[in-house]
Amino acid sequence: MVKKGSVVNPWEVSGDINYEKLIKEFGIEPLKELPPVFNKELEYRRKIIFAHRDIQRVLLAIRDKKPFGMMTGLMPTGKCHIGHLMIMKQMVFFQKLGARVYIAVADIEAYNARGQSLEDSRKIAEDYILNYVAMGLDLNKCDLYFQSDRSKDAEKANAYYRLQNLLARYATFNEFKAVYGDISPGKMLSALLQAADMLHAQLPEFEGKPLPVIVPVGIDQDPHLRLARDISQKIKDFNFTQLSSIYTLFMPGLSGGKMSASIPTSYIAPIDTPKEVEMKIKKYAFSGGQATLEEHRAKGGNPDVDVSFQYLRMMFEEDDAKLAKIEADYRSGKLTTGELKQYLIDKINKFLAKHQEKREKAKGMVEKFIYKI
Ligand code: TRP
Repeated sequence: MVKKGSVVNPWEVSGDINYEKLIKEFGIEPLKELPPVFNKELEYRRKIIFAHRDIQRVLLAIRDKKPFGMMTGLMPTGKCHIGHLMIMKQMVFFQKLGARVYIAVADIEAYNARGQSLEDSRKIAEDYILNYVAMGLDLNKCDLYFQSDRSKDAEKANAYYRLQNLLARYATFNEFKAVYGDISPGKMLSALLQAADMLHAQLPEFEGKPLPVIVPVGIDQDPHLRLARDISQKIKDFNFTQLSSIYTLFMPGLSGGKMSASIPTSYIAPIDTPKEVEMKIKKYAFSGGQATLEEHRAKGGNPDVDVSFQYLRMMFEEDDAKLAKIEADYRSGKLTTGELKQYLIDKINKFLAKHQEKREKAKGMVEKFIYKI
């Protein structure tokens, strides 16, 4: 394999991703012991969510039954794919734990960083939000908004955009350059708006007072968190509680790299048909198996690089004992690539059948929701 240099920032992720190096470079903490409610979730048990900043204050709030928030967002560019479901699961997980849930549709960011119109973002967002609901998010118990249209309540809308503007004073140009590398005025504004996204729950117009807020994201978003954390402590007009964050691994693309909506052969979409899922896995999923059956039986496969195995580990096989057996059998050569792929195809299709049913049911409600806010 050719070693490529890697780039990881909010607007570009490419090359081989070395998570350990990123942990050091970004100064984030590997996740250690967590309370049992977390370990019921495969993401936490298996370290798919692998690192954090300041998660402790959120854990304390949960333990002491004190209010806390969860804030995250997705930029609606390109088709929603199964990699996005990981963040959606976190929205639902924290909603069930009692968090005040805030979710941004990052249409201003898509406009400034990707050149996508607000109308297109709104259309694509519908697909994302349908998936949120199908994953179990209760829209009535969260504050989901478009960055371009924060609220019909003027007090709230003003407070959010006001915060973005006030934060600008505390960010320096050098900091922007150091955090983001290549930077344009549009990207600067997007970064400040994202800081406002993450912090505004703590304003008098929203939750009324400072509170811990956890932000689940992919690690590419950490530069935004560094900036927001830094400026939130410099601005004295509010007494912001420092933000907490957790980081998920990237879902690998079918043939390696990161799953990406801009590479159609890299992803599976929640709306794919059973035939499409089967074709994509069989044709594109990178295999850690050997070239011939004979060789595979003799030498065994490598689950660490096998994309099908990684999908089972990251999302589709809940049962740890079954996963361990699959891993052992694949390593020993008892389980073939064909059998492993078939197992995954069946798992994904079973999941998607239910998911798509829930998605269909949500349609009327989501449409009303989107065009009313
Ligand atoms: N920048 C994020 C993305 O590219 C979207 C986003 C906007 C976000 N505001 C946020 C994520 C606040 C977390 C918290 O997907």
